[in-house]
Amino acid sequence: MDNDNRFVTGLDVGTENVRAVIASINKDGKIAIVGFNEGKSAGMRKGIPANLTGPAESIDRMLGDAERMGGYDVRSAYVSINGSTVISTQTEGMIAVGAVEHEIDVEDLNRVEDIAVSGRIPANRDVLDVIPLEFALDGQGGIKDPLGMAGARLEIRANVVSALTPNCENLKKATQTADVQALRLVPTAVAAAKAVLDERQKENGVAVVDLGAATSSIAIYEEGDLQYVGVVPIGSNNITNDLAIVLAIEPELAEEIKTRFITGDFGSNKSVAIKVGKHGERTFERKEVEEVVKARLEEIFTEIRKKLKSAKYDQRLPEGIILTGGGAKMRDIELFAKECLEASVKIGVPKQLDGVSNAVSKPEFAVAVGLAMFAAEDVEYQAPIDKKSKKSKKKKSGSGGLFKKLFSKF
Ligand SMILES: Nc1ncnc2c1ncn2[C@@H]1O[C@H](COP(=O)(O)OP(=O)(O)O)[C@@H](O)[C@H]1O
Ligand SMILES: [Mg+2]
Repeated sequence: MDNDNRFVTGLDVGTENVRAVIASINKDGKIAIVGFNEGKSAGMRKGIPANLTGPAESIDRMLGDAERMGGYDVRSAYVSINGSTVISTQTEGMIAVGAVEHEIDVEDLNRVEDIAVSGRIPANRDVLDVIPLEFALDGQGGIKDPLGMAGARLEIRANVVSALTPNCENLKKATQTADVQALRLVPTAVAAAKAVLDERQKENGVAVVDLGAATSSIAIYEEGDLQYVGVVPIGSNNITNDLAIVLAIEPELAEEIKTRFITGDFGSNKSVAIKVGKHGERTFERKEVEEVVKARLEEIFTEIRKKLKSAKYDQRLPEGIILTGGGAKMRDIELFAKECLEASVKIGVPKQLDGVSNAVSKPEFAVAVGLAMFAAEDVEYQAPIDKKSKKSKKKKSGSGGLFKKLFSKF
């Protein structure tokens, strides 16, 4: 093992699934994915912890497998935060910096950012990020980086990303219960965007929509900056539930129908019957099934479009919309999404990195990979994985993970 390597962990706590990606960063800053795992989530409702023990146990179980194989203990992570209380607010602020010949320094920037946040964001919200969109000096706007420039009055236009404090606190508590310190909370769609977008897309204008189990999370980029985040509290599980209700079948069967037989190219499949069950003993009329799925998908995309509209980006995204998350695995879903959103739509998978990157090159791993990539940029992220102490507090329960490969290459 190369001792110069740093290790970081991205932890995606979803409503249906928890996922982790462990990456090593060498002294040149190159990232390699060295471990990953996924498991069923518990105690999460619409992206938000509904209790502490459910998420903690699922995180513990999922990481336990990874740690056992690698002989390492994950102690801290960048963690995804989701739910409709995750929002962005565009704010403005202004400060006087003194004489005209004063050069703008870091302190001035901090001060003007503080002004843009204080009083604008309700006290019951945690500020997750402040993204300066534009500065103005003495009334002259369009400045991206005013550091070192001369001026007497500094103005900022910023995008403040926040979430309700209780949700943030409970998420941190849940990971802490699993002995993992949440170093930073990153909105689900922002994390996914980190993994799947390139700079050109962010510059020209693009949205990432992470289709999760109970949420559809949106992040919009333009001019290289995050312009908007929002969450629609409907997801792919709603489709399953609708099928279960309308067809009067168990959710497991509804899930099988959704994942195996539905494509976003509605009406194109010539077979009229869907046969499920071990011996194909249950038959459903395809038209009826498709109608149910189509109605719910249409609702999801309509709600997404409403958010794009409210952010003033509807049909204003040259690089289109990139879908990630488990819900994006529905075959040809981009065709139906394109029709509903009237924009170009593609499926996003994490960029190629070193290590076992291929294994996480899937839409549902975008969030965890993005979190690890953010963590990799954090130079203060120290020793997240220690050689396992002999007396690890963690109880290692369960074994049914899908952990594939860890550390053996390094
Ligand atoms: N092949 C598939 N086709 C359609 N939906 C799928 C497929 N695979 C997974 N899903 C759906 O993706 C959702 C889970 O996505 P995921 O991103 O893991 O959720 P979360 O992060 O919210 O826990 C579930 O609703 C599941 O049914
Ligand atoms: Mg997800």
